[in-house]
Amino acid sequence: MVIKIELFDIAKHCRPDFCCGQASLDNYIRKQASQDVKRKVSTVFVLTDDVDSKFNILGYYTLSAYTVEIENLDQSFAKKMPRYPQLPSTLLGRLAIENQQKGKGFGEIMLFDALKKAIAVSKQVASLAVIAEALDENAANFYIKYGFQKFTQNPMKLYLPLKSIEDI
Ligand SMILES: CC(C)(COP(=O)(O)OP(=O)(O)OC[C@H]1O[C@@H](n2cnc3c(N)ncnc32)[C@H](O)[C@@H]1OP(=O)(O)O)[C@@H](O)C(=O)NCCC(=O)NCCS
Repeated sequence: MVIKIELFDIAKHCRPDFCCGQASLDNYIRKQASQDVKRKVSTVFVLTDDVDSKFNILGYYTLSAYTVEIENLDQSFAKKMPRYPQLPSTLLGRLAIENQQKGKGFGEIMLFDALKKAIAVSKQVASLAVIAEALDENAANFYIKYGFQKFTQNPMKLYLPLKSIEDI
């Protein structure tokens, strides 16, 4: 099994059977992702393996430019920021691993890859944090394990300051 992470390509990657246990995330990669890519709403990266020249999607995540309201950030973080009402960030809008591939470390690999890309892009277009949107408490706990903090106004939205990753 040779796996890699690459940009989603509707002509190449097989996605009709993708199932991660969350219908909205399954429908997204099956029906919406290519439109979002075309319209430059999100970039979609897939974890894929090559079986007999059939590129199955084992997981995917999306990235987009985003802004956060300073008042939603934890005070200890916000106080170090200029008092602009909105601050630049990077949205990790979706992250999903195929049911049969869960528990193998792929979620962590995809999250680290997304963080690495967010840091690289922030050298060209500033971004102070990665924002993750969780569908439920279980998903939120995954992000919390990696240091994300909940927004005060919306506990299903979490953030991780890029500086804290760079410092590590
Ligand atoms: C959440 C999800 C991405 C995790 O992917 P995964 O490949 O199963 O996770 P990994 O195998 O990489 O796990 C890495 C670590 O995170 C932990 N972990 C996995 N899911 C977790 C959860 N929901 N809460 C807390 N920790 C979790 C694992 O135990 C493991 O920890 P360890 O290294 O200390 O043993 C996957 O379960 C998924 O796609 N869920 C459905 C969609 C979803 O909820 N997406 C989240 C954003 S909307």
